[in-house]
Amino acid sequence: MKTVLTYGTFDLLHYGHIEFLKKAKQMGDFLVVGVSNDKFNEQKGKKAYFPYEKRKAMIEAIRYVDLVIEQTSFEQKREDIIKYNVDILVSSEDWLGQYDYLRELCEVIYLPRTPEISTTKIKEDLKL
Ligand code: CTP
Repeated sequence: MKTVLTYGTFDLLHYGHIEFLKKAKQMGDFLVVGVSNDKFNEQKGKKAYFPYEKRKAMIEAIRYVDLVIEQTSFEQKREDIIKYNVDILVSSEDWLGQYDYLRELCEVIYLPRTPEISTTKIKEDLKL
């Protein structure tokens, strides 16, 4: 059984998120998703529209997702990989190379993003 791990904010859930989670699940058998909590988003200079508990509940409702954990820092990845016996860390190409240091613990894969959709774009388009 292969365990896959990924992270994200997943605010204003959209089809780019669903595509990403579908592809991540296809990499293995059990998908763990770290959803960033509100305090961590603040540290990253991000403000989510939906609070953590709501974003977590939506990600839990997706059929490709087996477990949702709380992301509180960038540094927890190493700990999570060991704790959940992770085989593959999946990220996207906008983070290319940034998680290569974790290759001593598991496989690291960077997936292409779905074009033309992001939470930022939705927010901007709705400002019309
Ligand atoms: N993702 C993707 N394709 C998109 C949008 C997101 O593959 N069009 C992936 C991201 O690369 C990430 C995960 O979905 O691995 C969660 O992305 P997140 O940053 O929460 O969503 P974005 O829509 O990119 O949000 P923002 O615009 O705030 O950066």
